Amino acid sequence: MSQPHVLVACPVFPEVLQRLRQHFEVQALAEGETWRQDEFVRRLAGRQGAFITGAHRIDAAALAANPQLRIVANMSVGYNNLDVAAMRAAGVVGTNTPDVLTETTADFGFALVMAAARRMLEAEKFLRAGQWKRWRYDMFAGREVHGSTLGILGMGRIGQGVARRGAHGFGMKVIYHNRRRLDAAVEEACRARFVSLQELLAESDHLVLVLPYTPEAHHIIGAPELARMKPTATIVNIGRGGLVDEDALALALGEGRLAAAGLDVFEGEPRVNPALLDLPNVVLTPHIASATVPTRLAMADLAADNLIAFFDGRGPLTPVN
Ligand code: DGY
Repeated sequence: MSQPHVLVACPVFPEVLQRLRQHFEVQALAEGETWRQDEFVRRLAGRQGAFITGAHRIDAAALAANPQLRIVANMSVGYNNLDVAAMRAAGVVGTNTPDVLTETTADFGFALVMAAARRMLEAEKFLRAGQWKRWRYDMFAGREVHGSTLGILGMGRIGQGVARRGAHGFGMKVIYHNRRRLDAAVEEACRARFVSLQELLAESDHLVLVLPYTPEAHHIIGAPELARMKPTATIVNIGRGGLVDEDALALALGEGRLAAAGLDVFEGEPRVNPALLDLPNVVLTPHIASATVPTRLAMADLAADNLIAFFDGRGPLTPVN
């Protein structure tokens, strides 16, 4: 019997690719190659399964061009690149990679809080440029992290991980806003207090965005929200770029209406808003919050397991629709 045909549209660990080849006829991206969206859609032809990351979209056009497609395994927990409603209508299953990246991503969120608040990258750049001639009492004096107020917007698994780090590791007061309030036991474990969005903005010393991107959450942090924040506050985004109006953020950072920011995600990745690139008080990283070798391997394995379980009749392990 012929094996299902699967398109692997992103670079992946050789051992995972090898495992996929044991179960499927695989067409994979070659080393150093990238496929634009139109090329990706064209290559889906004749494939029943796809292994992708957020760089490619499964939308109505991709589905209409590929009626043979049955499952798309997304190697990320966020799946705003999947048009879930269109996939449901077309009978195509989507899967993501929850849980395996929670703690690693929360670590990185906290690292960005630290780097932004303590001005680590500015200071490093200064040192490398050979500018360390004299000590000054206010040299790279940043914002306090321990004992300050940590605000979390989006209190899912990763948000809770960031909250636990702040509360238990750094003695921070933790407040959060979420679509729904968490159970008392979870709030207690995170030592977190539910507040309105307006309170969250006004009270946070460090605000971390971890909510999923949906059309309703588009630019949930824009000029009016930034204006409510303390000028001494920092903001960190490890959710999705579209949550923040980057022009408004760049303006606030440039005018000193916000102390600093740490951004791992951008609207229109891999393009970065040029207004952010010249600002000293923003730490910019290329969407690497889940990037440790064990975690990326676990994500790739879970995406592969979803394809294998689907085609051997067990059903997907972590479906999103
Ligand atoms: C995810 O899995 O959604 C992350 O953004 C990837 O690092």
